[in-house]
Amino acid sequence: MISLKAQAIKPSATLAITAKAKEMKEQGKEVYLFGAGEPDFPTPLNVKKIGIKAIEENYSYYTAVAGSNELKKAVQEKFRRDNNLEYNLDEITCGAGGKQILFNAFISLLNKGDEAILASPYWVSYIEQINFAEGKPVIVKTTGDFKLKASQVEKALTKKTKVLLLNSPNNPTGAIIDEKELKKISEIAVQNNLTVLSDEVYEPFVYEGKHKSIAGFGKEIKEKTLVINAVSKTYSMTGWRLGYCAGPKELINAMNKIQAHSTSNACSISQKAAAEALTGQQESVQEMKNAFQKRRDLMASMLNSMKGIKCDIPGGAFYCFPDISETGMNSTEFASKLLEETGVTVIPGIEFGNDKCVRLSYATKEETIKNGMQKMKEWVEKK
Ligand SMILES: Cc1ncc(COP(=O)(O)O)c(C=O)c1O
Repeated sequence: MISLKAQAIKPSATLAITAKAKEMKEQGKEVYLFGAGEPDFPTPLNVKKIGIKAIEENYSYYTAVAGSNELKKAVQEKFRRDNNLEYNLDEITCGAGGKQILFNAFISLLNKGDEAILASPYWVSYIEQINFAEGKPVIVKTTGDFKLKASQVEKALTKKTKVLLLNSPNNPTGAIIDEKELKKISEIAVQNNLTVLSDEVYEPFVYEGKHKSIAGFGKEIKEKTLVINAVSKTYSMTGWRLGYCAGPKELINAMNKIQAHSTSNACSISQKAAAEALTGQQESVQEMKNAFQKRRDLMASMLNSMKGIKCDIPGGAFYCFPDISETGMNSTEFASKLLEETGVTVIPGIEFGNDKCVRLSYATKEETIKNGMQKMKEWVEKK
């Protein structure tokens, strides 16, 4: 009954681990969850209030596919304020999360066999989405500090390369591409006529210095780049499902056509709330970042205190991606045994294209980090 296309999609191992952890919790066992890819903070109050008001005022009808003018103006202001980037409203579109934006972009850009270069470790959905669009993922392996280098991009180029996908700060490693390398990458993209998809959903969580978008290196690269972002992580609004992007009008138009026949506009209430999130007070973002930074330092130092575990201090996002290979286990074995024997939940790195590491989210309470890391340390050192 099921199409080959649907059959080719890999089920998520993350879900299997999370389900197992839930089952253990229901059995009354202590679990320490480090699997989540979302902030544990509530959506800011000013945003919630606007959402409630939108419901009460019956803002409950279809909007334009690309989003209301109010929201697109808020996105325009955000790019101007945070990235020094100027876009017209017809160069902006909004969808149900960063994920839908990426999906629309791949479908709009890739013909069968067109190559999309991306770095590993990568966020799991990229590969599935590129495959679904019948493109070919070309994976450039990063190791050590996990920072993508321009020379690696250059080596991966072929006549069929059409898209270059960047994700900085990166999920799962937290790595940030060095600005000098990013500039060189922008030059390579322009010279080779690549379209750059720059996934910047972790933009505010850069702990040293400030985020730099590749689109900021001049007119030529800006015209070839789709900057993708979302309110999901920045404002702790993952469930509201609101992503946005800005880039070449031709690409935006194609994406709007796809969205018009799949989901239409993103939720109207979420659009109102997102406009407030993007243009209202930004202090809550800073507070969340400060809390994450403290938790990052705590988690990374506890990981590094464990015999056989190595963890570079991640520069951004809210994940640690330690190397566990000295334990002699692969990432799946490590994650499932750790969960079964201690209740500590981590995601196997193989999910992200690296079997030597596991991913831990520090978007969780300090107390959980302290207790969970202590459990993990005792377990690792007994092995
Ligand atoms: C790197 C990356 N890009 C995009 C997304 C999608 O975010 P959204 O919830 O806005 O669809 C995620 C979510 O985990 C992510 O980690």
